[in-house]
Parts: sequence; C-alpha cells; structure tokens
Amino acid sequence: MNTFISTLMKKMTIDEKIGQLNLVTGGMAITGSVTNNGIDDNIKKGNIGGIFGLYGTANVRKAQDEAVKNTRLHIPMIFGLDVIHGHRTIFPIPLGMSTTWDLGLIEQAAHIAAKEATAEGLNWVFSPMVDIARDARWGRISEGSGEDPWLGGQIAGAMVRGYQGTSMKNADAVMACVKHFALYGAAEAGREYNTVDMSRIKMYQDYLPPYKAALDAGAGSFMSSFNVVDNVPATGNKWLLTDLLRKQWGFKGFVVSDYTAVNEMTNHGMGDLQTVSALALKAGLDMDMVGEGFLSTLKKSLSENKVTVADIDLACRRVLEAKYKLGLFDNPYKSIDPAREQKDVMTDENRKAARITAEHSFVLLKNANQILPLKKSGGSIAVIGPLADNKRDMLGTWVIAGEWEKSVSVLEGIKHVAGNNVQVNYSKGSNITDDTTFMKRLNFGPGMVGLDAKAPADMIDEAVKTAANSDIIVAVVGESQSMSGESSSRSDISIPESQRNLLKALAKTGKPVVIVLFNGRPLTLNWENENAAAILDVWAPGTEAGNAIAEVLFGNYNPAGKLTTTFPRSVGQIPIYYNHLNTGRPYSNGPTKFKSNYLDVSNDPLYPFGYGLSYSKFTYSNVKLSKTNLKGNETLTATVTVTNTGSYAGEEVVQLYISDPVASVSRAVKELKGFKKINLQVGEKKDVTFNITPQQLKFYNSQLKYDWEPGEFVIQVGTNSAETKTAKVQWMR
Ligand code: BGC
Repeated sequence: MNTFISTLMKKMTIDEKIGQLNLVTGGMAITGSVTNNGIDDNIKKGNIGGIFGLYGTANVRKAQDEAVKNTRLHIPMIFGLDVIHGHRTIFPIPLGMSTTWDLGLIEQAAHIAAKEATAEGLNWVFSPMVDIARDARWGRISEGSGEDPWLGGQIAGAMVRGYQGTSMKNADAVMACVKHFALYGAAEAGREYNTVDMSRIKMYQDYLPPYKAALDAGAGSFMSSFNVVDNVPATGNKWLLTDLLRKQWGFKGFVVSDYTAVNEMTNHGMGDLQTVSALALKAGLDMDMVGEGFLSTLKKSLSENKVTVADIDLACRRVLEAKYKLGLFDNPYKSIDPAREQKDVMTDENRKAARITAEHSFVLLKNANQILPLKKSGGSIAVIGPLADNKRDMLGTWVIAGEWEKSVSVLEGIKHVAGNNVQVNYSKGSNITDDTTFMKRLNFGPGMVGLDAKAPADMIDEAVKTAANSDIIVAVVGESQSMSGESSSRSDISIPESQRNLLKALAKTGKPVVIVLFNGRPLTLNWENENAAAILDVWAPGTEAGNAIAEVLFGNYNPAGKLTTTFPRSVGQIPIYYNHLNTGRPYSNGPTKFKSNYLDVSNDPLYPFGYGLSYSKFTYSNVKLSKTNLKGNETLTATVTVTNTGSYAGEEVVQLYISDPVASVSRAVKELKGFKKINLQVGEKKDVTFNITPQQLKFYNSQLKYDWEPGEFVIQVGTNSAETKTAKVQWMR
C-alpha cells in the first residue's frame, strides 16, 4: 500500500491532492442548508475525493465513471451515506438496538446494512454513533447506545465488525465512520450543537471509551463533532485529533469533518474560512464535508506558509489509503453490481432479521396483573392512537433509503398475528400533537405529522366508543419519527398533551390500557406508569414494526430488552445516570434537609438503567464468590443461580456491576462490567458465572493513569442496576 500510494502521490499536483480532501453532496439526502454545485465539473477536475448522499448502482456508476475515466489520474471516489440502522430494510433505532443487549444481533444488523448499502453502490457509512448521552432532552440520544461507557464500547465494536466484515475489500463490506468525535452527547442543556465542557477525568472515564473501542475493532474512519472540546471546536482541535486519537490511541485511518463543521468554526470565533480551514488541517482533519473550505483556501494558505505541503500530503495519503483498503484501486466498481441491487435488498431474510432484532429491543416497563400477553383465544381489542395505523413513524430517525410505505403498521401486525378469533377495532383518537407551531417543526417531509380533519374532542369521543365495545385497549402513542434525532431537542420530554388527553379518556373507561410506546429518548412517564395496566417500550422498531410488536403483545416472543438509559421522573433531574459519583451528603430514603436531593421530586429515576420486565419471573440466588481475598492478577469468579419461577420461557440479561468504595479519586457508585443473556424454560435454573480480573477494576486517576488500586470491592449481580445481590472482596497488589 505504501509504495503504491507514494508512487501515485508523486504524480499528483497540489490541486489534485487538495481535491482528495473534498467530500461533497448533491443534495439527495442532506441535513444542512448547503449543498455543492458543479459536482460533475469538479469531479473531472480532480476536485472531489468522495460523494455522500448518492446511491443506486446507476447513479454511483455514472459518478465513478467520471472520476475513473475522465480525470487525469483516474483515482476512484468513495461513496458514503448515513446508513444508521439499516439501509433499505430498517432495523430498530440505535437506542433500541442497544436495549437488546445482544451483540450478535447488533453485528448482524450492521452486516445486513452493509450488504444492502454495497448492493446500491455505497462503500462508506456514517456509523456507528458512539456518543455517550445522559440527557434525554437531546434528540440524538436515539442514535447512540445510551449512557454506559463499557456497554457502549461493546456495541461500537460489534457494529464496526458488522460493517467492515473480515476485510473492507469484501464486496459486501463498507468502511465504518465513528462519530461524533468527541463528546457530542454532552451538549449543555441537551440543546443541539451546544457547548460541551467536561473535566478530563470524566472524559477519559465515561465518554471516550466507546470511541476507543470502535478504533480497536478496526474502524477505518472517524468524524469530528460539531461541539467544542476545551473551548476549541473538535474539528480544529489538535489535542483531540492528533495527540489523543493518533498519538495516544494509534489511529491509522482518516478523519472527516461533520457537515460544514469546518466553516462553522467561524461562528465559534476561530477566524475566517481560510484561517479555520488551515487550523483544521493542521489539527489533523483529513476531509472536509460539504463546506469546501479546504478546496477553496488551502492552496492560498500554502502560498502564505500557513500550511505545508507535508500537511496536505499527510491528509491526502490517509484518504488514499482508505480507498486502497476498500480495494477501490483494484476495482473502483467493486460494489456496483445491478444484479445484487435486485437480489440483496429488502429480502425476506433481511426483514426477518429486522423483526427478530426489533422483538429483542422492546422493553416491558410495566405489566400489572400479568395483563400481557394478550390472548388469541377470543374477545376484542381496541387498537387506538395516532401511531397505530401509521407506517412512516415506524422507522424512526435517519432512514434515508428506508421505504416507509413498505413498513408494517401496528394495526396490520396485530390483525395478522391475532388471527380470526379476536375482534380488532380501531380508532385514531388523537393527533400526535395539536400544537400547530410544534407540528410545523416536526413536519419537514411528506406524510409526516399533520392535523386530522376531525376536531380533537370528536376524535377522543370516537376512540372512547371503540374502547367501550372492546375488552382491552392497546394505545399506540408517543413520539413521531421527527421528534428525536438530529436537531430535535425537547425541553419537555413527556407524551404530548393531545395524546395524554386521549390516554386519560381511555383510562376513564375502566378498560385496561396497554401502552405501546414509541420514543427516541427516555420520556417522563409518571402518569402513564400510574394509570396504564402495561407499558411496552418499542422505540422505533423499523420496517417490521407491526409484526414484531404483535408477536410480543401476543406472547410469541417474551420480551427481554433492558434499558440502556435511565428514565427520569422529571426533566429537572437531568442529567441522571446510574453510574454517578457519591456526594458528601448522599441522599437516603425520603426528603431530608441538607442532603443532596430535591424538595419536589425524589432522586430515584422512574426506571433505572438495566431495567426491563419479562412475562416470566426470574429469581436470583446470592452471589457466590470463588474467594474473598485476592492478590495481583488472580481471577475471581462470581456466580449466581437464576431460576425461572414464572410461567413463560424467556430470556434474562444478567448484569454484573462493581463498586470501588475507597480510591484516590471519587469513584462511581457502581459500574457495569459484564452481562450475560440467558434463556430459561419454565422452572429451569442456570448458574451464571462472571470471571473478574484486575483489568475490570481499573479506572483513570487524577494523573489520567489507567490502573486499579488495592482494597475492597463490592461485586454486584442482578436484573438491573438498582436490584442486585452483593458480595465483598479484598483485592491486594
Ligand atoms: C450529522 C452527521 C451526519 C452528517 C451527514 C450531520 O449533520 O451530524 O451525523 O453523518 O450530517 O449527513
């Protein structure tokens, strides 16, 4: 590779080198206000290294032909897209994917996405998003794996492996792009694109591990984030992009900016376009997305000695290396195969995998009196709510090539799985929201949120009548597609008033209300938790939504998903996460003056991290340890016996947490260090054993040294972060 690229670069002019650093979009699928003009002409001039937002073999072939046939050096382009949770066949949103706690399913979903994306000419995906998020106001919490650094890292690795396969040269592999580097999920006040300010120790301990895990899994590229890190925008932050990413971590791939992030450094107060472009290049940014700051200013900066040929060469080399690793110099048309486009996309097999993944992602938040599963033997069900007879919102955020017309609505799924013995009645009941200003913000695409021709009160009346004629109500409510994702921060994270009014009217009928909840973030659900008989959180399940939901509602699959984000009682508790530090005045049951608490709400979340019910019941024994006194690099085993004492076979995610009560720095009250997903028949019991080594006891001290400190450790195993069995060990050097 090195010789090949050196030989090629010797032939390249400085303009051609700068051209490789330019990523453009034609506007097929964009998130910003700017698109690039004159793309065809610029390709011919060698001014473009890659295109994003363009897919379909015919489109990609045409563009690649220009680069390969009509440029001086015939250098192929890379083709990227926001393939975030599936390409055509849409899987659950990433937050939903994470609640499966099933790395095999997650890797498979990424692999299927890569297979479909390559079948349409793509070779690069802007995923995984690994930003830790602990603020549910931030709409992009839906795009990540939640609040835990270790779990986030495991999932990041699985996704990279799924996308890139055994070799990026494979016809069905794409290059992953780890984003958004770094700390984007910690935007102040949960407001999109906002300032981030964080101590180094928190950064290293809680926010950086998933990026590092994705790198260790071999990710080929990174994307810089929009926010500042230590008051310098990530896109021009040398400490971040060079000292940390390349020198400390050894990253060998290339870094692309986020959408116009180079240009946006001007608004951050870093100078004009020429200045910020030079700053970004010198910081270690290799490719400029959309803004063309590199293309339009780097040559001038070179002539003014503000950047060097070596700076440009380094970035150019990294981009060319990526193309080499993808096998594009061997075959620029590698994944441009119309036959595959016909046969590998939206197959029954892919849809089946999406359905199974969706079923595994659902989290049963409440199930009073075992109201679920629903019976198929007879009776009637009222399926009510603005998301019940709906296809578009099944897919969730970031579904650029997703075809919502092909998704399965909840009503369709229920009718299909219920069979002929059950009468299914339907009413819409309410709009997503009656607030027209809010609605306008949500409605940026065809078929999105709108007002029904009927008046809200009439819709509710009709729904109540439908409910009166049925035995049980399934209320399909929550957030529509555009209520989470990019630029979708909310300051109120409850179910919109129009839908809450519907739920209240339904509850008054006295019929049991089962809520099927759509959401791209944790919501505040106190009223729902008090008044609904059951709540099944389905996030945004994707193409097979209705089928997956019906399979779970009727008990063909017993839900086993567990939360990866804490659900607050009130938006005022945010940020709220399980692995927080202790205070000097810890809260202890109930409101007490001069303790760390609130006057008006408890400290406890509504649903803790790791929480999720089953139709069955799992009983945990005490934790049995192999030893209670250990030394050095010994391995400790911790075992619990889990018994299925309920009446359904099912899966349980057994979770291991460790706390380190005394150390040189204040440590989190507990930290997730392992999990195992087990399957238990009715009455069956299994021993679940975790091996623990000092590796899992390590943390960053105040010198940012990663090591463990001897002393006492509390080993905790349980069904969620708040319900564990504990045992103590002494571990000395
Ligand atoms: C988003 C990125 C995305 C990019 C390209 C940006 O606005 O922050 O996540 O990959 O657009 O669409």
